[in-house]
Amino acid sequence: MVDPESFIDEKVEEIREEVGDGKAVIALSGGVDSSVAAALAYEAIGDRLVPVYVDTGLMRKGETESIRETFSYMHSLTVVDAEERFLSELAGVTDPEEKRHVIGEQFIREFEREAREADADYLVQGTIYPDRIESEGNIKSHHNVGGLPEAVDFEGIVEPVRDLYKDEVREVARELGLEAVISERMPFPGPGLAVRIVGEVTKEKVEVARDACHVVEEETKEHDPWQAFGAVLGKATGVKGDNRVHGWVVAVRSVESRDGMTARAQELDWDTLQRIQSRITGMNDNVSRVVYDVTHKPPATIEYE
Ligand code: XMP
Repeated sequence: MVDPESFIDEKVEEIREEVGDGKAVIALSGGVDSSVAAALAYEAIGDRLVPVYVDTGLMRKGETESIRETFSYMHSLTVVDAEERFLSELAGVTDPEEKRHVIGEQFIREFEREAREADADYLVQGTIYPDRIESEGNIKSHHNVGGLPEAVDFEGIVEPVRDLYKDEVREVARELGLEAVISERMPFPGPGLAVRIVGEVTKEKVEVARDACHVVEEETKEHDPWQAFGAVLGKATGVKGDNRVHGWVVAVRSVESRDGMTARAQELDWDTLQRIQSRITGMNDNVSRVVYDVTHKPPATIEYE
C-alpha cells in the first residue's frame, strides 16, 4: 500500500516537471480514478489543466450535477452535453463489442474537439493498474485506455495513478480531501449504462437502467458492495392494475470484489431484495419483473455486455 501523503507530493512534482508551462486536458468521468488524476494535475498546474466532462446521456442519476458542483473550483471545467449524438449513433446497434466501439469512437470525437479547442499539449488519464491488465488480456475493450492518445497528437500522456489498485486510489482521494461521494464511489464503467442494457440502447431503456441503478445503489449501501446496479435484460409479461403488460425485466446485481477481476455475488436478504423490487416496479410502469443475479465472476462478468 502506498503512503498517500508522499505519493501526492511525488506525483504533483512529477506532473509539474513533465508538463512544464504547457497545457493539459483530462476526460473526467465522475469516477474516483479520473477525479484523483484531475485533482493531482490541478494541484500541479492549476488552470492550465482543462477537465472535460462529456455527458453521454449514459451516466448515473445526478452525475452531471455532482460533477459541476465538485469541480466548480476548477475554472477551466468544460461540460459537453452529447446525449443526443450518442443515442443517435447507438440506434440499431445490438452487438456488445460494437456498442463499446461506437461509444468509444463518439467519445473520442467529442473529446478530440475539446482538446483541440483547449490547445492542450498533454493528456492526463486516470488509468489504474487493473485497467491495464484487463486491456492487455483483451477481455473486453475498455474505452478509457487506448484510442484517445492516437486521436490527438499530444506531446505526452500523464497517468499519475497507473500503478495503483482501486483501494489505493481511494486512500489518495481521501488524503486529497475529495468528497465521500467521489472517494467512496463504486466503479462505473466507461461506456456507462450501455453495458447494463442487453441489446439496443434506447432512451427508454436508459431511463429504466438509470432509475434501477439508483435504487439498487441506495438500498444496498449498508452491504458495502464493490458494485451494485440494475440492468435491463429484455421484455416479459406482467400485470399492472387490471392490464397485462409486456414490460422490461430488470436484473439486480450486487457483487464483492477487490479489483473487479473476479467477483462474488452478494447474499442479500429478502427484505432488501423486496424493497428494491417494489421501488423499481413502482417507479417504472414499463417494468414487469425484477430478478436477482446470483452468478459469480467467473463464469459471468460483472457487467452485462
Ligand atoms: P466486467 O464486466 O468485465 O467488469 O467483469 C470488470 C470491471 O470493469 C468495469 N468495466 C469497465 N470499466 N470501461 C471501464 O472503464 C469499460 O468498458 C468497462 N467494462 C467493464 C466494470 O464495471 C467492473 O468494475
